[in-house]
Amino acid sequence: MIIAIDGPAAAGKGTLARKLAEHYGLRFLDTGALYRAVALSLLLAGADIEDEQAAEEAARQLDQRILSHPDLRSAGTGVAASKVAAMPGVRAALLDYQRRFAATPPGAVLDGRDIGTVVCPDADVKLFVTASPEVRAKRRWLELKERGEEVAFEQILQQVRERDERDMNRADAPLRPAEDAHLLDTSELDIEAAFRAARRIIDAHLKRGSDRQG
Ligand code: DC
Repeated sequence: MIIAIDGPAAAGKGTLARKLAEHYGLRFLDTGALYRAVALSLLLAGADIEDEQAAEEAARQLDQRILSHPDLRSAGTGVAASKVAAMPGVRAALLDYQRRFAATPPGAVLDGRDIGTVVCPDADVKLFVTASPEVRAKRRWLELKERGEEVAFEQILQQVRERDERDMNRADAPLRPAEDAHLLDTSELDIEAAFRAARRIIDAHLKRGSDRQG
């Protein structure tokens, strides 16, 4: 089984995807981390973040060790990631890896922006997880604060809006729900409630499958 989870930054996709993978015994891939890793490797090398050739090269030779770098989840890396994510060469370089991961038994939960539309258009279940920009900025702000990064809330809200704008308006694989995606707005849901809602959708899909068979 392949479960595609897409949505804007800080909508709660990551935590939800991880919990679903554990619950259904599937593998888990945070695809945003791949774009972050490409951006961070450029930042660490002192390369220009707008340099498409350097970014594509970094994506092709991605060093897995960078995925555990302490700066992977920083606000600065997130902003840089949304820039390299707009480059078609970078997206193409990361596509194969994501598809192979998804196709490896027993299946996987992938979270990102274009999983249901581009990476796994045939996914068994597609969820599009959203929340208002204010709620998402608050979550991101708390997360950064817990990691000891003190940033003004207004600045985070501004970054959330800018990233939405870039993610939704890029020409290649823009952020949008697949036609057959289930929408899940988590503005008023805590993680447990979002987890229950997602499970209801997935279990209904599994039941339809077993009804057809039996
Ligand atoms: O989910 P995140 O904040 O870790 O994602 C970092 C950036 O990567 C974000 O701006 C959008 C981009 N991204 C993407 O374009 N496609 C994906 N499948 C995942 C992330």
